[in-house]
Formats: sequence, structure tokens, C-alpha cells
Amino acid sequence: NVINVILSGGVGSRLWPLSRKSKPKQYLPFFQNKSLFGLTIERNEKVCNHVLLVGSVQNIDLAKEELSKVSHDIIVEAVPRNTAAAIAFAALSTDPDDILVVTPSDHLIEGEEQYLQALKRGIEFAKEGFLVTFGINPTRPETGYGYIEAAGTDVLSFREKPNYETAKDFIKQGNFFWNSGIFCFKASTYLQELERFDPKLYTAAKAAFDGAKDGVLDEELSMRIPSKSVDYAIMERSDSIKVVPSFFQWSDMGSFDSLYDYLITKGHPKDEAGNVVIGGSKHTVFLGLKNCIVVNTDDAVLIMDKAHAQDVKHVYETLEKEG
Ligand code: GDD
Ligand code: MG
Repeated sequence: NVINVILSGGVGSRLWPLSRKSKPKQYLPFFQNKSLFGLTIERNEKVCNHVLLVGSVQNIDLAKEELSKVSHDIIVEAVPRNTAAAIAFAALSTDPDDILVVTPSDHLIEGEEQYLQALKRGIEFAKEGFLVTFGINPTRPETGYGYIEAAGTDVLSFREKPNYETAKDFIKQGNFFWNSGIFCFKASTYLQELERFDPKLYTAAKAAFDGAKDGVLDEELSMRIPSKSVDYAIMERSDSIKVVPSFFQWSDMGSFDSLYDYLITKGHPKDEAGNVVIGGSKHTVFLGLKNCIVVNTDDAVLIMDKAHAQDVKHVYETLEKEG
């Protein structure tokens, strides 16, 4: 079996107020009336014969309509414990020889042919027992991504979220890719590497998985799992990683600057000074403002300078604290 493991855990706090805890960004029908989640399923269906969703008990219901169209299973987390654990749950619930194509649910990918080609290449490496990453050509010293130092398809090192100076240096060196956040491996390969590099995390994840009741993982046991991403727990440490240089268009729709760029390329209206309105139907006028974004929803409005796109998560965090 080739199984598309879809991780759907984050809240998407940098897209507040579009994205809410009760309705995270991957479920918003923002892309030609489809959600990023729906598009993820459609895209991977061409190579995978089953979907395994690992998601939060808080919003798993939002996924059910899209999922009903395909052969699927769901793993429901009581609390999010980050991606090393989320992927472990998937690997524990499948056959050791199953190939897992692990994908986020909130990325926008265009160029389906290149995408499927890359996946097929990755699946071949996975069958040989490698952990496979998909490398994107970096275009700026982004600090929110992982970097893959490559010699052909061999991985010399994996560096998660470097600081700005280091990221600049990587780009200058020229043999670094961005990690797309998509992975492919045999279930057994993943569990072996996890047990080897983080036995504590492995044991704690297995206990929470084995303690599942009524289809939800055990909350108390889950709280004992170290919250670590797969990038830090495994990718930075393993020496059996391959990278498939990938040429599809990839965008992590993480914040309003990437959404802004996407909308503009799709012909979304923008005034002469670069101001844009997202959502709502009111006629909006910008006077003396440049590169601003107004986001309208039924119960909240965000007015921001586009340069502050990364700060929206602090707004979210403050609101969260105030309840
Ligand atoms: N089910 C589940 N449970 N999913 C989770 C959890 C969890 O506890 N935590 C995160 N996820 C999901 C997110 O919803 C997202 O789809 C994916 O796993 C990756 O998590 P992020 O939190 O978005 O990671 P990141 O963006 O900081 O970094 C990763 O992605 C980058 C590319 O977008 C890394 O893999 C980087 O190396 C990579 O460059
Ligand atoms: Mg992300």
C-alpha cells in the first residue's frame, strides 16, 4: 500500500481572523472554491491508494466531508504533540512495509506533473529503506524552513530553522534546498529511526497510541510525549536520508504575505498603492496607505501593514490568552 498520511494539526495562527481554532486555514475554501485540505487529497490520490488523516479532536469533523470521497482512516489526537509523534501514530497503525507519503494539509502546490514525478521517485527510494525528503530551490534566506545540504540526491546534512545569517550562507553556498515538509518512507523505516534517535519519544508515543479509547488517543499518556518535530527528532540526525530535487511550485500558505502573493497572481484586485481587501463585500477605500491588507470576517477585522505579516500570530496569542 502507498498511504497518504495527512497531518492536520496546526491552527494557522498567522492567518487570523480567517483561520480559527474551530476552522483552521486548511479547511477554508479559498483556492478556486476548494480548500487546501481538499486539494491535498485530490493531488495525492493519483499515487496513493489510501488516506490516513492524523488530526486534532477539535476540528476533525471539518475533514469528514472531503474524506468521505476516498478510502480512509482517521487517527484522532487528544492533544497536539508535534510531528514526530503524529507520524509515529501513523506508522504504528499501518503495516511495516506500507509506504507512507506524509504531507501537510496546508500547502499550495502547482505543477501536478512535476509533483507526481517527484513523488514516484521518492517512493522508489523509500522502498530501498531511505527516509525521503523533497527539496525546493530556495529563493530567499527564509528562517522558518528546514534546509537540506545535498550532493545530488544524497543528503550531507539537514538543518532545521537556521538563523538569518546561517540561512544567507546556505543560499550563497548553492547546494542547499528548502525542505518542503513532505516526506516519504516505509512505516518500519520511520519507527526504526525514531526508536534509534529518540527512544523516549518512541516509547511515549507508542503508549499513547496503545492507550487509545473510543477512537481518540489517550490524553494523559499523550501529554508525556516530548513535543518535537520530525525535523529535529529524526531528519537532523539520520544518515539514511535522500532528497528528491523537486520542481513543482510550492508555497507554504503560512501567512498573509504568501496569501497576498497568491491572490495577486490569480487576479485578485489591488489598488495602485498595493492595498488589498480579503473577505467581505463592503466597498473599501485606502487613503494615504501603502501595501496594506484588510481582512474582513463576520466577527473580526484585521487591518495590517503587509510587512507585519509574521506578527499576526502574536495577535492570535494575545486574544487566546484573553479568551
Ligand atoms: N496531526 C498533527 N499533530 N499535525 C501537526 C502537529 C501535531 O501535533 N503539529 C504540526 N502538525 C502539522 C501542521 O498542521 C502542518 O501541516 C505540518 O504538520 C508541519 O507543521 P508546521 O508547524 O507547519 O511546521 P513548520 O512549518 O514550522 O516546519 C515544517 O515545514 C516546513 C515547510 O513548510 C518543517 O518540516 C520544515 O523543515 C519545512 O521547511
Ligand atoms: Mg508550516
